[in-house]
Amino acid sequence: MESIKKIGVLTSGGDSPGMNAAIRAVVKAGAHFGVEVFGIYKGYYGLINDLIKPLASQDVYNIIHRGGTILKSARCKEFETKEGRKKAYENILKHGLGGLVVIGGDGTLTGARLFGKEFDFPVIGLPGTIDNDLYGTDYTIGYDTAVNTVVSAVDKIRDTAHSHDRIFIVEVMGRDAGFIALRSGIATAAEKILIPEAKTFIEDLLDSIEKGRTQEEGSGIIIVAEGDDFGGANEVAKKITERFPDYDVRVSILGHIQRGGAPSAYDRVLASGLGFQSVKALLDGRRGVMVGSMNRQIAFTSLEKTIKYNRPINAELHSIAEILGL
Ligand code: F6P
Repeated sequence: MESIKKIGVLTSGGDSPGMNAAIRAVVKAGAHFGVEVFGIYKGYYGLINDLIKPLASQDVYNIIHRGGTILKSARCKEFETKEGRKKAYENILKHGLGGLVVIGGDGTLTGARLFGKEFDFPVIGLPGTIDNDLYGTDYTIGYDTAVNTVVSAVDKIRDTAHSHDRIFIVEVMGRDAGFIALRSGIATAAEKILIPEAKTFIEDLLDSIEKGRTQEEGSGIIIVAEGDDFGGANEVAKKITERFPDYDVRVSILGHIQRGGAPSAYDRVLASGLGFQSVKALLDGRRGVMVGSMNRQIAFTSLEKTIKYNRPINAELHSIAEILGL
């Protein structure tokens, strides 16, 4: 096989803190191995529309601590079509790229797998999403930062909840997954954590809220993942108010603040290691895999498996959270 001389890197889907650290690592690893790295701007949209420029070491100076992605990101419908992917491949040929590092979540890696197969082209995926819902890695890039953002917000909410004896329903991100909710809920001693992976019965929830209230303490925090069966924080608040009209209930939807901000040290280190390994993997002849970290070891999982399997929630941790929250 001809050795790879040029590679592309892109970020796609919802951005996540640490993506810049991963881009930096890809560029620096490229320089180390003598491979030219091209930045593809705006994800797959940029691959289709030729938003492709060489990236040198000085381009990734002073970015490791910055949230977002210097390459920008997008959710691209056209890449879901055969014609769109064909245009993208033409640009790969135009720039003479011999491999691609794609940083993103489930949708991004689904596109990467299809593209790699269709054109028999070497693609390596890196797990970049705050949701932590990718099979094949213990942590995704951005998850730790997002959890810390939620924790610092909920700590503040707890102060005012306690002062006013209010119940706060805090909605966190996680369209299909409750990882952010579970971890931040434990870290903030939330009285209840509602996640899509576990069914909550409304009567049980209302009973436990009632039981948890005392003469002295009328406040409480309920964390709800946006993808929970109840349909989000507003729905939960409605149910509580219907049964307990006297309770003072407030909703706080944290939204996109969870996606921004400086990455935590954990995310910077994870992204740096995985970014380096993604280039090495391409040069070692690997293709069609996601590079993750499992049990503190580098782990390669086929994109096929990463997409097919759901990363399970830690059921024991969830039960512990239930006990501790009561
Ligand atoms: O996938 C990451 C994520 O932040 C999800 O948690 C959330 O549901 C979604 O992206 C929001 O996407 P958008 O910014 O496109 O509305």
